[in-house]
Amino acid sequence: MAGEAFARQLLDHATRLSGTRIPDLVAADPGRAQAMALRVGPVYASFARQRIDPPALAMLEGLAARAGLASALRALVDGADVNGSERRPALHTALRSGIGRGRAARDAHAQALAARTRMAELVASLRGSGVSDIVNVGIGGSDLGPRLVVDALKDFGDGRFRLHFISNVDGSEVQHVLRGLDPARTAAILVSKSFGTWETLLNGALVRDWLGGGERLYAVSANVPAAEAFGVAPERVLPMWDWVGGRYSLWSAVGFAIALAVGMQGFEALLAGAAEMDVHAVEAPLEANLPVRHALVAVWNRNALGLPTQAVLPYDQRLAQLPAYLQQLVMESLGKSVRSDARAPDLATVPVVWGGAGTCAQHSFFQALHQGTDTVPADFIGVVRPAHAYAGNHAALLANLLAQAEALGNGHAAEDPQKAHPGNRPSTLFLLDALTPHSLGALLAMYEHSVYAQSVLWGINAFDQWGVELGKRIAGELLPSLRGEGAAGDPVTRTLIDEIRARS
Ligand code: F6P
Repeated sequence: MAGEAFARQLLDHATRLSGTRIPDLVAADPGRAQAMALRVGPVYASFARQRIDPPALAMLEGLAARAGLASALRALVDGADVNGSERRPALHTALRSGIGRGRAARDAHAQALAARTRMAELVASLRGSGVSDIVNVGIGGSDLGPRLVVDALKDFGDGRFRLHFISNVDGSEVQHVLRGLDPARTAAILVSKSFGTWETLLNGALVRDWLGGGERLYAVSANVPAAEAFGVAPERVLPMWDWVGGRYSLWSAVGFAIALAVGMQGFEALLAGAAEMDVHAVEAPLEANLPVRHALVAVWNRNALGLPTQAVLPYDQRLAQLPAYLQQLVMESLGKSVRSDARAPDLATVPVVWGGAGTCAQHSFFQALHQGTDTVPADFIGVVRPAHAYAGNHAALLANLLAQAEALGNGHAAEDPQKAHPGNRPSTLFLLDALTPHSLGALLAMYEHSVYAQSVLWGINAFDQWGVELGKRIAGELLPSLRGEGAAGDPVTRTLIDEIRARS
């Protein structure tokens, strides 16, 4: 959608609100804290400290309605070809429920259920084996989701397996992970939708050879013949499909490591949480729809306020990997400067997503959030009930979470300008009742739907990633020059290769 009219309306409201600060918005409306909050199951979100008022929000909701956002959300789950450049649907929702009505969605759901049954059998057989350690080899969406969820849910497993992850082509990661593991008690899962990813094939070959063959080698891939040719027995290859994007795939057999860590029951609870959010995203009216509200606020911050980055600040150490996970989800999905109809977008698109876990991040980059020249909107994520008995620590954690959002929004006047906090720095504050498979599934699905909603508003394809191809191709072409076979074409690269070769 977008278009000049969209841009003009955004700017009109931004101009109208330019002299209004977040504390003014809060003071002007005693009901704002309640009115600007939404809850879906275990996920509560307060937008009260965003620099937006009800008329601006209503304008955005009107634009979203005219952009056909509600039917676009329905089209996503029903299996329309929302990935236009690759002419395919993006049916990650079919991995967690039968919400989709179309034939493609029904078939996808049936395939997902069959794969899940096979995955449960493999989980059971591994649990009954002498294997103690699992190494997940994959990168991007074949790594970040399982890595995040396994880390976040470590209180839920029975500790039957130790989980390890190898993603980087840097051999030191393989070396560090394999060091100390016993190949006779280790199983590896090679996760690659394409089974053509350089990093995963190189690392996978090292791990396969270290294991001494394919006996404890598993794979998850949409390219089953390639996995089998690599030495994985067909009965140990779990399927993936071209209708799931890598960064949306943790709900499929890509989550095998998750199921090994938290059991099938935990994995199913994760899916159920996501499914609850799917129903809400598709059925709730735009003005009461959490992922839609999150997306509209993201568009407002990016386009009306012109803020180029977005911080993700989980106040729970178990969610420390969330910023890295969301970097891929948001930036690979929305990092586009061409619309689906091949026109240039009318508005700026993706923000730079970054962040870190509180309270550690407070002692690192929060200085810049409070007093830097750029305003960085933040998503704070807190957890009400901890999974430990250290009540004093948890109270301190929550106090810090609430204090930071308050300080960023309200600021602080001081006679000494060095000590003044300008405030007016927007944030959304999420509270999960507890960090469980269910609540985590709901939170991650919330972000998925928000990303898709943003893509609809900007008119871009959230499900392709052509921008990662060029560098991959050039890297392949440079290998011979690095070995001293011929010179690189680019003069700067040529000089750098000479430097490398002179010192290696
Ligand atoms: O970085 C590009 C990318 O294609 C991601 O989208 C994907 O998650 C990752 O590489 C890994 O791809 P595969 O699962 O095919 O190995």
